[in-house]
Amino acid sequence: MDQLLIEKLTKVGAAFRLPGLFFSYEEVNMGNINHTYKVNYVMDDGFGRARIKPFLFQRVNTYAFKEPVKLMENIDKVTEFIRGKRPNALNLHFHHTEKDGVRLTYLFDGDEFWRITNYVPSVTFMTCNDVKVVHNAGEAFGDFMTVLSDFDPKQLYYTIPDFHNTRKRYEALKKSVAADVKGRAELVQDEIDYLLLNEDKACTLTDLFNGGKLPLRVTHNDTKINNVLFDEKTLESLLVVDLDTVMPGIIASDFGDAVRFAANFTAEDSGDYDKVGVDLNIFWAFADGFLSQTAKALTELEINTLALSCYSLTCELATRFLADYLDGDRYFKINYPEHNVVRVRNQIALARDMEKKIEAMDAIVQGCAKKYRK
Ligand SMILES: Nc1ncnc2c1ncn2[C@@H]1O[C@H](COP(=O)(O)OP(=O)(O)O)[C@@H](O)[C@H]1O
Ligand SMILES: [Mg+2]
Repeated sequence: MDQLLIEKLTKVGAAFRLPGLFFSYEEVNMGNINHTYKVNYVMDDGFGRARIKPFLFQRVNTYAFKEPVKLMENIDKVTEFIRGKRPNALNLHFHHTEKDGVRLTYLFDGDEFWRITNYVPSVTFMTCNDVKVVHNAGEAFGDFMTVLSDFDPKQLYYTIPDFHNTRKRYEALKKSVAADVKGRAELVQDEIDYLLLNEDKACTLTDLFNGGKLPLRVTHNDTKINNVLFDEKTLESLLVVDLDTVMPGIIASDFGDAVRFAANFTAEDSGDYDKVGVDLNIFWAFADGFLSQTAKALTELEINTLALSCYSLTCELATRFLADYLDGDRYFKINYPEHNVVRVRNQIALARDMEKKIEAMDAIVQGCAKKYRK
């Protein structure tokens, strides 16, 4: 074990006045943004025996999240709201520390930004082809939306402005193409052409929202399966975690991005383009789980645009990968020089497959919505 880290964790635990004594830690490697540790404390169980209690410590990545204090305010409001509504359910709870007499859910020394939550014994999956697990993940994200349906999203900060404004993502791409600082545009002309040709279709959701046709909701904005904790035995979903990007937004972003990631036959950066496509079984499982919780709360238009949202989110991410490639790979971490191009081609292959399957996807959505609206 790393002695410096142990000292750090002990200091952080003391600032949050955790009961008991620091005992050991394990790094949790499931996420790829923050540094996460399961930290074990040993304490008296009240009967003179030792009890081990784990806590979840996180050092927030302040390079990725420029406004960690606002981010924590968002998380605080959302988790406290959920706890108020469901006091007896399993919830995320952030421990408090104090600075100048003010109660805070974080410890920030100007350099490192730490927080502590209850540790939930569970399993998580990086990716998953088990339809039951995917269904349960859909249910968990759907439930997250539903429990927050009477929370006013305007109370939350836009910690990442225009995160899912597809029009703005396209503007950024066009600027990168025009600037072409690395002289790479000619290498990806086909990809530029595909995305620009389909701009209006990809921006349908953004345009509907800007036109006042879609409601503003609380959105999670990182609806990957590894952000759901599952029961180790039953694989039922227990809790949605990773609320760093919780913000006001449209439901289509959460649904579309989840499908984009989970239902692709390949990983999003696989160069096996022939295999890329939507696995309709996975799509169905996620849609059924999601709509089982949300069908009654969603508007007609929200439901009617869920299938299209998958296409929109796929194109949106492709524009971001492509712009990053043209700008010289400054945002997304690359493991080899062509990594971003492979990501772009993968996402475009997925978008093309979605175009072919959009009617089937919509039929599945409509079927699930009907079933759960009764
Ligand atoms: N409260 C918790 N209890 C148990 N495990 C957790 C908890 N919160 C997060 N985890 C685990 O830690 C991983 C990383 O946490 P997450 O908040 O998603 O960070 P990142 O932003 O790095 O993805 C999760 O994928 C999950 O496996
Ligand atoms: Mg995560």
